Amino acid sequence: DESALERHFEATIAADNRLEPRDWLPEGYRKTMIRQIAQHAHSEIIGMQPEGNWITRAPSLRRKAVLLAKVQDEAGHGLYLYSAAETLGADRADLTDRLINGRQKYSSIFNYPTLTFADVGVVGWLVDGAAICNQVPLCRSSYGPYARAMVRICKEESFHQRQGYELLMTMMRGTDAQRDMVQDAVNRWWWPSLMMFGPPDADSPNTAQSMAWKVKRHTNDELRQRFVDMSVPQAEALGVTFPDPDLRWNAERGHHDFGEIDWAEFKQVLKGNGPCNAERVAHRRAAQDDGAWVREAASAHAAKNAGRIGA
Ligand code: 3HC
Repeated sequence: DESALERHFEATIAADNRLEPRDWLPEGYRKTMIRQIAQHAHSEIIGMQPEGNWITRAPSLRRKAVLLAKVQDEAGHGLYLYSAAETLGADRADLTDRLINGRQKYSSIFNYPTLTFADVGVVGWLVDGAAICNQVPLCRSSYGPYARAMVRICKEESFHQRQGYELLMTMMRGTDAQRDMVQDAVNRWWWPSLMMFGPPDADSPNTAQSMAWKVKRHTNDELRQRFVDMSVPQAEALGVTFPDPDLRWNAERGHHDFGEIDWAEFKQVLKGNGPCNAERVAHRRAAQDDGAWVREAASAHAAKNAGRIGA
C-alpha cells in the first residue's frame, strides 16, 4: 500500500541511501528531479555554443585540440543527463522541445558572449569552477542515476577548469595586451558566475524541498560563498582582481564578504532578455531542424532491421 511505499521512500532518504528507477517515488520528487536533471542537461548542451565559437580561431593546434575535447565532453554530459532523466519517465525529444520553446531553462551563464580567446580561459576557470562547486555535492544526491552521472562529470569538469586556468596563466606571462584581455574577461564573467548558483536562499522556491529530499546537499548561498572563498586565492595567484570593491576577508565569519549581486539582471536573463538568449535558442532550434532527416533515417533503418531480425 502507498503508506508503506511512502515510509520506504522516507527511510531511504533518512539513511542517506540512493533511490533507484525501480523504487516507488512521490510524484513531486519525480517532477523536481526531471526538472533539475533536464535543465542541467540543457545547460551542458547550450554551454557548447559560447566555447564552440572559438574552436576555429584557437591560437594554436594544442589549444584547438583541448577546446575541442572540452566541448565534446559537454555534449557527452548532456546526453548522460538526458539518459538519467529518461530513467524517470521523461522523453528526450519532449525535453528538447521544452528547451527550444522556452518551457524549460538552461543555465543563465551561457547567455553571455565570449568576446576574446581569454574568455575561453575564464569560462574554464570560473564557469567550470562554479559548476564543480555545485556538482561535487550532487554526487551525493538522493537519486542514484543522477548522483552516479555527477561522479563521471565532475572528473571531466576538473580537466576543464585546469585547462582554463593554465591558459590564463600562459596569457598572464605574455604581453600587457594579453594581461588586459584576461582582466577584461574576468570583469565580464565574475558576477554572472555568482548568479549560476541560483537566487538567494530567501528567493529560492525549490531549495527547502530539495534539501529535505537530499536532492541538494547545500543551499544556493552556501555554495556561492564556497565558490567565492575558493576563487579569491586563485585570482591572486593569477594576478587578476575581481570587479567587486566590497570583496574582502571577514575574519569573524571565516569567509569573504562580497558585494550585492544584480538580481534584476539575473531575472532579465531568465526571462530571455540576456545578451545571447535568442541566438543560443535559435542555434539549438536550427540544429534540431537540420538533424531531423538523420533521426528519421535512423528510425527507418532501425524499423527495417527490426523487421529483418524478426523474419
Ligand atoms: N540559470 C537559469 N535558471 C536558474 C538558475 C540559473 N543560474 N538558477 C536558478 N534557476 C531557476 C531554477 O531552475 C528555478 O526555476 P524552475 O523551478 O523553473 O526550474 C528558479 O530559477 C528558482 O531557482 P531555485 O533555486 O528555486 O531552483 P533550484 O533549487 O533548482 O536551484 C540550481 C537552481 C542551483 C541551478 C539547481 O537546479 C542545480 O543545482 N542544478 C544542477 C546544476 C546545474 O544545472 N548546473 C548548470 C551549470 S552549467 C554546467 O553544468 C555546464 C558546465 O559544464 C560548465
